[in-house]
Amino acid sequence: MSTPKHFLDLDRLDAPTLRAILDAGAAFKRGDGNRVPLEGKTLVLIFEKPSTRTRVSFEAGMMQLGGRVIVLEGESSQIGRGESIADTARVLSRYVDAIMIRTDDPAKLAELAAHASVPVINGLTDASHPCQLMADVMTFEEHSGPIKGRTVTWCGDGNNVAASWVHAAVRFGFSLRLACPELLLPAPALLEWAASEGGDVTLVTDAPAAVRDADCVVTDTWVSMGDDAAESRHNLLAPYRVDEKLMALAKPDALFMHCLPAHRGEEVTDSVIDGPRSVVWDEAENRLHAQKGIIAWCLGAL
Ligand code: CP
Ligand code: NVA
Repeated sequence: MSTPKHFLDLDRLDAPTLRAILDAGAAFKRGDGNRVPLEGKTLVLIFEKPSTRTRVSFEAGMMQLGGRVIVLEGESSQIGRGESIADTARVLSRYVDAIMIRTDDPAKLAELAAHASVPVINGLTDASHPCQLMADVMTFEEHSGPIKGRTVTWCGDGNNVAASWVHAAVRFGFSLRLACPELLLPAPALLEWAASEGGDVTLVTDAPAAVRDADCVVTDTWVSMGDDAAESRHNLLAPYRVDEKLMALAKPDALFMHCLPAHRGEEVTDSVIDGPRSVVWDEAENRLHAQKGIIAWCLGAL
């Protein structure tokens, strides 16, 4: 039995594959080609954490491609009562054509992929959020042209979304400046991986220095799902809030991006997220189109 085409993390796939998936997503968005290549296919979505965008964009996307979706909530399934991920993978593989999971521990994603005989898609773990980055790169390029050689600044927590930005910087060939407090830096192994791949990923603790002349400024919540210590996080992250003063240091046509949900007045001000440089609604929309490319690639329909 050949290994299924899993979409686990951007560092696990090569640049041409990621570009082909994005191109397919863009073609679906334009309405080109076979619009229902997944007729008769079923995707199960497993959620062990809340979601709005990921759930609805996968569900709508699969239906638009001609397929069907089954949603399994962790708590209302036997996973919530302790059935192993490995056994769940073996069983679901007998029923459906692909599995998407949103969970906490990345080891659960790995276990699912190791025991599933159908493709597994990472819909976010505590360690990464690769589907988000496919939509983010698509959005940047729609507004500002090729991302290769450009500069993106991440302001805030060195969290799961930041980790996928590191993977994306290496695979899509752009410079990434990470402006994060010392206590909330991304894992050292991630930065070592970027350096070993020849990536241009730098840590800058000073937000204004990191944002200067950037082509895009991106941030995310200060308190991710599952995080505690909210008060100390707020104190550490306040200097990284994206406001108009900070955005003014970026290039005049710089974009503002945020994966959403946003906590207005915390990591970003209303004037920035609702302002002329913000592309957050296009970014949310592109989850749909980029993920149609991902599902089609996983199921061999590109
Ligand atoms: N950006 C994102 O993944 O949103 P949801 O948590 O609503 O799925
Ligand atoms: N970093 C956030 C992203 C939500 C889409 C979280 O994990 O909660």
